[in-house]
Amino acid sequence: MTTILVTGGAGAIGSSLVKALSREHQVLVLDDLSSGWIENLRGLPVKFWRGSVTDDEILKEVFAASPEIVYHLAANFANQNSFDYPQKDLLVNGLGTLKVLQYSREAGVRRFVYTSSSCVYGDIAEPIGEDSHQFSLDTPYAVTKLLGEQYVNFFHHHHALPTVIFRLFNSYGPGEYPGKYRNVIPNFMLRALQGEPLVITGTGEETRDYTFIEDTVAALALAVSRPEAVGRTFNVGTGTETPIRELAERIRDLCNPGVSIVFQERRVWDSISRRCADISRIRETLGFAPKVDLETGLARTYQWFQENRVAEFRPL
Ligand SMILES: NC(=O)c1ccc[n+]([C@@H]2O[C@H](COP(=O)([O-])OP(=O)(O)OC[C@H]3O[C@@H](n4cnc5c(N)ncnc54)[C@H](O)[C@@H]3O)[C@@H](O)[C@H]2O)c1
Repeated sequence: MTTILVTGGAGAIGSSLVKALSREHQVLVLDDLSSGWIENLRGLPVKFWRGSVTDDEILKEVFAASPEIVYHLAANFANQNSFDYPQKDLLVNGLGTLKVLQYSREAGVRRFVYTSSSCVYGDIAEPIGEDSHQFSLDTPYAVTKLLGEQYVNFFHHHHALPTVIFRLFNSYGPGEYPGKYRNVIPNFMLRALQGEPLVITGTGEETRDYTFIEDTVAALALAVSRPEAVGRTFNVGTGTETPIRELAERIRDLCNPGVSIVFQERRVWDSISRRCADISRIRETLGFAPKVDLETGLARTYQWFQENRVAEFRPL
């Protein structure tokens, strides 16, 4: 049994990762619950600290529990949030990441896993590979997720920390509640269930690569089981792009065929018209293959919505 720390472990992705890891390992969670949900961890055998990755006192306590592996997921999430609160974004995603790296190095962890984002890439009309240098940092969040990568690489190259970076492409699924700063899928589902129109900010032809949470978690697990991952950066996506109009139609048909789909101006910071992952590196190096298609993933997300009565007590 290995002791594994997951920062941000109450969040949408962190909680699914914690659930999977806690079947075989001792899991420590550090989360300040600023955007996560404690109900996601209910019943799981984890040791939980409520606090910030910027707080040395709590970091000392957490690292005194001797984690051997660190998954650093805690972050100020995401683009719009960083647009509204850029200083907090820098503090958590920049300084917080640096601190967790420092404590991980001092503890001699045997793997440090960092979740970066596809938002570090520019607007590229083909599936994007990891070596693309067309970075287009449109929001403070994109700036600080790339900053985090640079710190991770610094610790790998100069302190021999065994690190792995994953650039996630639009992860979705059970465990993510709707909210002002949350992703489009839970927010569309909530609006459909409340009989509100689904609002697309753009023409509807903009594409994204939607990755079901189980596939995201399976990719994260490979960082530890596959030594070839160390020192490298991998895209985590499906390699399939879906126009936002199609996504809205699928959710409408699934949740409430009566609602309309309306269009508004793009958000000022949103310049990305196409987004699709080239996943050949993670497939060839780590044997990753996404298993859940969009239809199945949306159906399972909707099932979770219903089972947890999410729409009844989660107003936007
Ligand atoms: N969801 C996606 O589509 C996506 C895409 C790309 C990258 N990512 C990255 O994956 C990671 C997890 O994303 P998510 O979707 O689960 O987001 P999330 O907001 O659900 O999870 C982040 C967690 O970090 C916690 N947190 C925030 N600030 C903290 C702090 N100062 N100290 C301790 N905990 C703090 C939050 O309470 C939350 O539980 C993040 O690093 C995010 O940048 C996510």
